[in-house]
Amino acid sequence: METTTTSGLEGVVVADTRLSEVDGERGRLVVAGHDIERLADRATFEDVAALLWTGALPDADGRAAQQRALAEGRVAAFERLGGLGDALARVDGMDALRAATGHLSADDGFDAPARLAGALAVFAAAWLRVRGGARPIAPDPRCSHAEDLLRMIGWLEATPARVAGLAAYLVTVADHGMNASTFAARVVTSTGSDGVSAVVAAIGALKGPLHGGAPGPVLDMLDAVGHPEHAAAWIDGELAAGRRIMGMGHRIYRVRDPRAAVLERAIARLEQAGISTGRLALARAVERAAEGALRSKYPGRPLAANVEFYTAVLLDTLGIDRAAFSPIFAVGRVAGWCAHVLEQRAIGRLIRPASRYVGPTPA
Ligand code: COA
Repeated sequence: METTTTSGLEGVVVADTRLSEVDGERGRLVVAGHDIERLADRATFEDVAALLWTGALPDADGRAAQQRALAEGRVAAFERLGGLGDALARVDGMDALRAATGHLSADDGFDAPARLAGALAVFAAAWLRVRGGARPIAPDPRCSHAEDLLRMIGWLEATPARVAGLAAYLVTVADHGMNASTFAARVVTSTGSDGVSAVVAAIGALKGPLHGGAPGPVLDMLDAVGHPEHAAAWIDGELAAGRRIMGMGHRIYRVRDPRAAVLERAIARLEQAGISTGRLALARAVERAAEGALRSKYPGRPLAANVEFYTAVLLDTLGIDRAAFSPIFAVGRVAGWCAHVLEQRAIGRLIRPASRYVGPTPA
């Protein structure tokens, strides 16, 4: 029988999901019935976690219960920091996060979504502290997840404006259709494996520069460009050298990623609160130059800014070291991973695609 190979699985639908819808033509992201713009402006991480894990935004009691559950997860993970071997000494933050999470066990209660989400926040913050030669800071269960993450990172005061900025980020990246790391989590779950294993696999997938590894390099790019006037020439040089522009392009979106606008607004709000690195204007100039140059090079394939572009500027404005951008992405996305684990478990069908053999035939 004649078969064709779709190496990137584009257009292949592997699940019916209630979690999120990515409309690549119109540039719209809906998370469990809510537009991402409204969620990012109004919801806390607790809200979106409850939305993804239960199907509905919580009321005040539900939000408090979610905050308690996440706080218990952070406290339980902090108690395990001493038993993580050399995980937090890894040079790469995603290596550290993967190794630290790999020490957890479903038998130890860490299969629960709030436990996993709590653990990733603690491990990301603790890795940053250890990397800076400081001791990890214990979680404060009275805090929201976003506030506690900033507290545990500990370099900058967790002011309401900064907490709101980080919460907007975590909410914005919490889920995004059948992206590579989510698919990895679902494949692992489909074998009957546990949630910790699924999240470890997802962290590994998120690490790659074509997925969650882009925002650090976006900031490097902004540093290299230096001034808005240099943007066009710098971009042209990169494309002429055959390199990809980080933070630009997307497998699904044919227009600008709606999350780029959400994060851009969050940065503008921080600027209004007097928190600024001055990089927003530079980023906008580089985005314009990149969009124009990519339009000339690929007239048939619109390539616009994706979520990573303004992630870099937002997290930098929040005072978070660029080495931690991908781990912080995981701290938000784990909400979606855990929701997909629950959904995949309910489906209960092994994901097992086929391959086309192109090797030699036996003599
Ligand atoms: N810079 C330069 N060229 C790019 C590009 C970018 N950011 N994104 C895509 N292209 C090029 C591709 O190389 C391809 O050219 P080719 O046919 O000559 O090989 C063409 O545009 C079409 O690419 P397409 O197949 O539509 O992209 P994809 O779906 O394979 O890739 C990404 C999607 C996200 C992997 C890709 O856009 C990319 O690498 N972006 C930079 C990394 C990034 O920001 N990742 C975070 C994603 S949220």
